[in-house]
Amino acid sequence: MSLLSKKLSEYQERKAKILQGGGDKAVAKQIAMGKLPARERINMILDPDSFYEYDLFIKHDAREFGMENKNLSGDGVIIGTGTINGRPVAIYAQDFTVAGGSLGSMHAKKITKIMDYSLKMRIPLIGINDSGGARIQEGVNSLAGYGEIFYRNTLASGVIPQISVILGPCAGGAVYSPALTDYVFVVDKISKMFITGPEVIKSVLGEEIDMESLGGAKVHCEITGNAHFFAHTEEECFAQIKKLLSFIPANNTEKPQIVKSSEPLKKYKIEHIVPADPTAPYDVRNVIRALTDNSDFIEVQEMWAQNIVIGYGRIGGRTVGFVANQPMVLAGVLDCDSSDKAARFVRYCDAFGIPIVTLEDMPGYLPGVDQEHAGVIRHGAKLLYAYSEATVPKITIILRKAYGGGYIAMNSRHMRADFVFAWPTAEIAVMGPEGAANIIFRKEIMEAEDPDKMRKQKVEEYKEKFANPYVAASKGYVDSVITPKETRKFILHALNISVNKSIQTPEKKHGIPPF
Ligand code: HXC
Repeated sequence: MSLLSKKLSEYQERKAKILQGGGDKAVAKQIAMGKLPARERINMILDPDSFYEYDLFIKHDAREFGMENKNLSGDGVIIGTGTINGRPVAIYAQDFTVAGGSLGSMHAKKITKIMDYSLKMRIPLIGINDSGGARIQEGVNSLAGYGEIFYRNTLASGVIPQISVILGPCAGGAVYSPALTDYVFVVDKISKMFITGPEVIKSVLGEEIDMESLGGAKVHCEITGNAHFFAHTEEECFAQIKKLLSFIPANNTEKPQIVKSSEPLKKYKIEHIVPADPTAPYDVRNVIRALTDNSDFIEVQEMWAQNIVIGYGRIGGRTVGFVANQPMVLAGVLDCDSSDKAARFVRYCDAFGIPIVTLEDMPGYLPGVDQEHAGVIRHGAKLLYAYSEATVPKITIILRKAYGGGYIAMNSRHMRADFVFAWPTAEIAVMGPEGAANIIFRKEIMEAEDPDKMRKQKVEEYKEKFANPYVAASKGYVDSVITPKETRKFILHALNISVNKSIQTPEKKHGIPPF
């Protein structure tokens, strides 16, 4: 055997050993749990044969608790770069078959290396989490590793898209890396995220709870809002990641890709979706689909705070971020969660140069002790802050109700909307006609011979005066009153003329948003 052949076969042998991960038994256990092996996950997310792996031969350096005798393949994490739809991305995947994907210091160094690459090269980062958390045997070194990851997540925030995919346990402090990233993807029955597990809860609080009810995929999509995309299978999850990436730019200096434009599908007839009766519900997502190219719309956080809808579509081939009140849920009111949801999305669009289209139809902020005590003042303020701060093109369409603080918050002219268009069905006022008439005409109503008749008369009087778009249009707060059918045309034109939008804001280190 020549020296070259010897070296080559030694290389192949070393590599093959590492590629076995945690061994056949651990891999079989992974598959039996309905989970794909880590390398397979990477290959399924990336374009075929596009993955280039680094640090395959990394070894851990732990010397306590018998670790010196343990040979952990790649130290339980795979890192590399590749492409998705031809566009470069950086990726890492924790390998649960190797010491439960636990994070020791070399494991963390691999992750931080690929994070540094992604930031330096200005390409999106995808992190697949499947881990028992901090490697217990490595003590403070594992904690240090997490700290290094969190720091980089924060540094990269707003510069490159950061995507977290939870495909197994993500326990303890480990959850804070996904929480610092832009989009968290979860898969039913597979994803588990929590700070303290069932055993700790039982010992401290004496309560029994299973992992799924504590922090399963549905919990984070429906209750906590920690996750942004829900899938039934890993394959479905990977398709969602690819679709999301097609809408957003690779970094904050790039513009989103422009694709060939197409008309919305004929089945979405915008003039027939919104009932004229301001109290009648409808699904605002159908209005969005009636506006977007090919009626395509990718919804973010679909299952949480459903009284507001956020997500991406394209108009004229350009990506647009939609923020829309959802009259079908809680009449589309703003509350703590919907304010948080919309505010973060607005900041995301602003950071990555994505124009925002706001569709408004809501009766204001949700009243009540629960909301007040939950901090609706602080949460609601986030939306005002986010819209005011955003300098990307901002277009608002008032479909029906725009009452009170909601009118201001939903990207009004006063938050520096570039364009405010209102349909003839718009009602822009401090509050709804019934509430308003009861307050300002209370005396007349109480003293009338027939109070009910008087109330109705006063409500009609109020509607006549304020429940329309013309008062706001007469002050220039609304730029144009347009018909539903004209809406796409007006948005398209507004987007075209806003391409080089440029405004100056005061110089500062950063603001202090009501976090
Ligand atoms: C070292 C670990 C580990 C860990 C799992 N393993 N977690 N090794 N450190 N944190 C090892 C197991 O010993 C086992 O090794 C292998 O991984 C597979 O684990 P199993 O328990 O057999 O798997 P399973 O039954 O599926 O249970 C998965 C699990 C459980 C629920 C995640 O392993 C678990 O509860 N792990 C501990 C979770 C945790 O409390 N982590 C620390 C959180 S604190 P062998 O050799 O037997 O195959 C934290 C602080 C970070 O993360 C703070 C940052 C700021």
